[in-house]
Amino acid sequence: MTELVVGSEASEGLPEFPSPRDAGCPFAPPPGLLALRDTGASVVRVETWDGSTPWVATTHAAQRQLLSDPRLSADIGAPGYPHTTEAMKEHAAHIQPSINNTDGAEHSRWRRMLTSSFTRPRMQRLRPAIQKITDDLIDRMLAGPNPVDLNEALSLPLPSLMICELLGVPYEDHEFFQEHAGATNARFKTAEESAETTRVLRQYIAGLIEAKADAPGEDVLTDLAERVRAGDLSMEEAAPLGHILLVAGHDTSANMITLGTALLLDNPGQLELLRENSGDERLVAGAVEELLRYLTIPHLLARRAVVEDIEIDGETIRAGEGVIASLPAGNWDPEAFPDPAKVDLTRKASHHMAFGWGPHQCVGQQLARVELQVVFGTLFRRIPTLRLAAPLSELKFKEDSQAYGIYELPVTW
Ligand code: HEM
Repeated sequence: MTELVVGSEASEGLPEFPSPRDAGCPFAPPPGLLALRDTGASVVRVETWDGSTPWVATTHAAQRQLLSDPRLSADIGAPGYPHTTEAMKEHAAHIQPSINNTDGAEHSRWRRMLTSSFTRPRMQRLRPAIQKITDDLIDRMLAGPNPVDLNEALSLPLPSLMICELLGVPYEDHEFFQEHAGATNARFKTAEESAETTRVLRQYIAGLIEAKADAPGEDVLTDLAERVRAGDLSMEEAAPLGHILLVAGHDTSANMITLGTALLLDNPGQLELLRENSGDERLVAGAVEELLRYLTIPHLLARRAVVEDIEIDGETIRAGEGVIASLPAGNWDPEAFPDPAKVDLTRKASHHMAFGWGPHQCVGQQLARVELQVVFGTLFRRIPTLRLAAPLSELKFKEDSQAYGIYELPVTW
């Protein structure tokens, strides 16, 4: 993952974006971001790493309005699109159109290829598989060294194994797949290494889609094989789509497990509430929504280019300018979530923005929810003495990554 420049000096007197987090409150959004919202303006101009000056939408209401406005484009090649890093800006010209970077009818076509694969009932049917994977990983963790890094023991293997289950990767290929999936999300890698991992995985996924045509299952690659056979999708489009699911669904869920665990261990009263009620599906589901709100893993999203002038709350955002609907700011907007700095697992938080909003809202959100409900309903019940094996102040938080998280979470029991 490409490193970001956080906390650089802004010229022209505009606030910098992203601004640094407060080391004393690593779970909270950066104070500078919350200060933008406290100005009372729902859209504020900022300066980013390359000197460009997009708008940040700071309130829950403005974010929902903008992210559902067809005058905003997800096309990363559109003029004014606010890129997160230089590498991403450079790659923009070479990236093929797909679900995450198209608009309107073209985007709807990509969405249609996936929505039936990700319905809530279908994701619920995966719950026993997710429970089994979680229990097996916890068994292995309990039998292994203590302390252990939770990322290695649970947070990374769980979404990886789940994606295998979801896509329909044969069990005997799990190791190969996990190794390459891990490499996809590795922090330090060259452009050549990324390109090679992408090539190997896409080739592998294309092979599986072909095989599914003869041996179908109830999985996403079978659905894509049917689309290819029906002529809705070409093989050149189907394999990258499988790859996008892998990338989008891996790091986000893994970081959410690690960061959510650290937050709960730092809030013993709330942890106790969760542990005592781990059999109460409704409470656990609500707790997961609050953790998603509070932590907002996609801390640098959602980004768009404006293709036609927009008036919002007395400001005009011009065509060719960028908009960043800063999801952590929306999720900590006191108008939408009173007393937002308080972790309250009984809060009604399901209107949070952690999965985005509008046409690009997360396709995998029902899967992520089931994964997180199983993990947070199981981990503290199975290991009631779980605690941090290093002080919070010594942990390294992923301020420089696209998905917020913690590089290593040493835990003991
Ligand atoms: C905690 C876990 C997750 C979080 C917080 C998350 C968050 C998000 C957000 C904020 C967006 C919208 C981005 C934008 O508007 O620019 C998004 C889009 C997307 N997510 Fe997730 N996601 C998670 C898990 C997953 C999983 C498990 C999958 C699939 C297996 C997935 C697949 C996708 C895809 C394909 C898109 C693009 C949708 C589109 O552009 O139409 N995500 N996600």
